[in-house]
Amino acid sequence: MAQSSVMDKLVSLAKRRGFIFQSSEIYGGLGSVWDYGPLGVELKRNLKDRWWRSMVYARDDIEGVDAAILMHPKVWEASGHVAGFTDPLVDCRQCKNRFRADDERIKGTPGAPDAQCPVCGSKGTLTEPRMFNLMFKTFMGPVEEDAAIVYLRPETAQGIYVNYLNVQQSSRQKIPFGIAQIGKAFRNEITPGNFIFRTREFEQMEMQFFVKPGEDEHWFEEWRAWRMQWHRDLGIRPEKLRFHQHGPDELAHYAKDAYDIEYEFPFGWKEFEGIHNRTDFDLSRHQEHSGKKLEYLDPATNERFIPYVVETSLGADRLALVVLADAYREEAVEGESRVVLKLHPSIAPIKAGVFPLVKKDGMPEVATRIAADLRARAIPVFYDDGGSIGRRYRRQDEAGTPFGITVDGQTLDDGTVTVRDRDSLAQERVASDAVVTYLQDHLAT
Ligand code: GAP
Repeated sequence: MAQSSVMDKLVSLAKRRGFIFQSSEIYGGLGSVWDYGPLGVELKRNLKDRWWRSMVYARDDIEGVDAAILMHPKVWEASGHVAGFTDPLVDCRQCKNRFRADDERIKGTPGAPDAQCPVCGSKGTLTEPRMFNLMFKTFMGPVEEDAAIVYLRPETAQGIYVNYLNVQQSSRQKIPFGIAQIGKAFRNEITPGNFIFRTREFEQMEMQFFVKPGEDEHWFEEWRAWRMQWHRDLGIRPEKLRFHQHGPDELAHYAKDAYDIEYEFPFGWKEFEGIHNRTDFDLSRHQEHSGKKLEYLDPATNERFIPYVVETSLGADRLALVVLADAYREEAVEGESRVVLKLHPSIAPIKAGVFPLVKKDGMPEVATRIAADLRARAIPVFYDDGGSIGRRYRRQDEAGTPFGITVDGQTLDDGTVTVRDRDSLAQERVASDAVVTYLQDHLAT
């Protein structure tokens, strides 16, 4: 399959099946902002739940928080984002389009007479690069003046740093310990695109691990390995995953060392999670700018120090694109082609399709009862009695539903139903009153 066509097919499936819609579509859409439909909201929620469980519930050294999106503007001065969170931009004086200076489509050096605009093709009309801050600004209160400027946070991490002593003291954690958070972040990206890969509003799942200076490199390696394993456990094909270490010119202003976890998307290898050694950069800067001591007192040694921070930062939307791209397959099955999303059962939006083979002979009644039993245990199912059984299976294959439960003639004789596995297509007979346990066992992660 051609690379672009895979993305086109994914975008079209995402819309057709209710995963992802363009924001404000009836008004022509809003650039690089997307809405999640009934299946998409479940997929993303399942991804976030899986991350939260592994970070906060499965460990005793990580606490959760949910900080506000709006923060004191001095936070962003201290963090370096006001001065340094910028991209170099060039404008075309002819067609008025704006590009990142490193846009691969630009021929020549922006500002030079031979540089060519990638949109209108004019030569010599591109300006020299100018720095553009990626933070969205708004105003707090009724007056739109400089003193009232607040920013929509461009990363969730700062809400953790400014609260780290509140969390440490209230939860009585000792270093090393971490704080996890899931929330929205906003960046006024100049060349967004590739569907939900780079958007202007997105969600991050970030964890900041506070350690003793000198132990940071050890914890950095631990977290690097754990995060890669987490993606493998989610069923992402290992050959599509790799690390990329940042070179000196790639490191963010706060980082001493950084690795991206990359996925081979249809448009190439790209980052979807970052693991950063942020040293004591953020906490020291907040201590300096706020005038409040942010030192940790080690109860064992009575030492005071500003902890170092190892950060893991994963985009929920970008992860959703990874799992969709990784799960998408076109296969030939019994002489027919099918589109299937081989999503890990734990993140599939619908866990089972429930089908009466025909709409008579008591089959709908049994199927309705099975569907109700599953829903009562918070297992999302889809009841479908329309069309041939093959078509009903195909519809659920496309939605990524891992199991199909069919009530047929034999059910009325011996009380068993057929359970079909989406991936292997194997079918087995299960007692209808054991379907709940069967699914609970097979959905466990
Ligand atoms: N706190 C560190 C930080 O924000 P980052 O590498 O800028 O680091 C981390 O972002 C992750 O957030 C990325 O790997 C990606 O998954 C996600 N992300 C960043 N910008 C994004 C955007 N414009 N659209 C979607 N996801 C984005």
